[in-house]
Amino acid sequence: MAQLWGGRFTKETDQLVYNFNASISFDQKFYRQDIEGSIAHATMLGEAGIITKEESEKIVEGLRGILEDIEAGRLLITSEYEDIHSFVESNLIDRIGDTGKKLHTGRSRNDQVALDMRLYVRDEIKDIKALLVDLMKTLHKLMKENLDTYMPGFTHLQKAQPVTFSHHTGAYMEMFKRDYSRMNDIYDRMNYCPLGAGALAGTTYPLNRELTASLLEFNGPTLNSMDSVSDRDYVIELLSALATISMHLSRFSEEIIIWNSNEYQFVELDDAYSTGSSIMPQKKNPDIAELVRGKTGRVYGALISIMTSMKGIPLAYNKDMQEDKELTFDAIDTVKGCISLFNGMISTMQINKEAMKKSAMNGFTNATDAADYLVKKGVPFRDAHGIIGNLVLYAIDTKKSLEELSINEFKQICDVFDDDIYEAISLETCVGKRNTIGAPGPDAMKKVIEINEEFLNKLS
Ligand code: ARG
Repeated sequence: MAQLWGGRFTKETDQLVYNFNASISFDQKFYRQDIEGSIAHATMLGEAGIITKEESEKIVEGLRGILEDIEAGRLLITSEYEDIHSFVESNLIDRIGDTGKKLHTGRSRNDQVALDMRLYVRDEIKDIKALLVDLMKTLHKLMKENLDTYMPGFTHLQKAQPVTFSHHTGAYMEMFKRDYSRMNDIYDRMNYCPLGAGALAGTTYPLNRELTASLLEFNGPTLNSMDSVSDRDYVIELLSALATISMHLSRFSEEIIIWNSNEYQFVELDDAYSTGSSIMPQKKNPDIAELVRGKTGRVYGALISIMTSMKGIPLAYNKDMQEDKELTFDAIDTVKGCISLFNGMISTMQINKEAMKKSAMNGFTNATDAADYLVKKGVPFRDAHGIIGNLVLYAIDTKKSLEELSINEFKQICDVFDDDIYEAISLETCVGKRNTIGAPGPDAMKKVIEINEEFLNKLS
């Protein structure tokens, strides 16, 4: 047991208590951020004259050595320390002697851990943004390549109106654009440095909090020391945004599972992204899509868990807050894995344009356009709706699609129909004429693709 606080105790900590309390098994994940934060703190202490410049330099050098040794695998983080903070500090003292004991001047583990967690979340937001950009590039490519890949659009999972695969993909593009901007929002709001808040009430040392903040590339110091050590809003915001990303990936996965089914065959997942069955030789299962869908549960779980842990905590720091780490780390790793696997899966899947088109042609997805045709010929919409309803009923009875009906059959139901009905209800017309911005028509789609192109170019 290696602890930083034995002085006022007369008994050893019970081993089970020690294990229950210790966090090194998981907070070692932010060893780099812990050391970076300490380097900034020591630099500031030197600049502010709280310790000497020589002491500051010695500490910084020692900390850099620890970082290098951990990264090179020469120094293993072991569980005899309570947490990563104790591990680094004890190691520093072993390396540079008594000067190392000055590192913690004007600092508490409460503001230290608040800083580490922020630095970690900030770094991860950058990674998540990069993964989202990769995913959006794949979607952008699919959008450009599938402007005339017709497919049915659904409501209630019933065929509704024809769209294109480009348009359908574009819906997800919008979702991931919002996810990306949520990452920026969270980053901007959380980008203030809590170090210097001390345990809860600041410190009597003349810390230069602005300097520490700028050394760590924060916009500035946080403005209330009690809030600084007990704020985990940014964790909640991140988990909420991750839950939303998961939800988007899950919906898309669900569609891919349906499209990849024997019944639909709209897409075929690449062998590299499918799995087989141990008993049924014919099977090729969409396990990756299913896992991405399934993992949404644990990301939601993390969000609910931290919200529940936080809700009863009086100001300021309480140990409950240590619970923020494992679930946040897990949610981040899970979502990062899901985004990159999902990206690989959709960029390698085959798009079966013929099956999509055939499906769009069956199922009366052009019924609204047939009604609009009558409206353009002067029939009031409500009447047109009824006439087309009858026409659909007739077509179902005779097992035909609308465009397979003869002109006589059309006229039998309503004599307003003329030969131009076939053109009016063709897939090309149904989709091609929908060109208000946001609609699936090619002109509208090209405008959106251009906007997306500009957006993506600015990012990379
Ligand atoms: N492991 C602790 C955490 O994650 C570090 C802060 C400890 N502070 C304390 N007063 N016990 O929150």
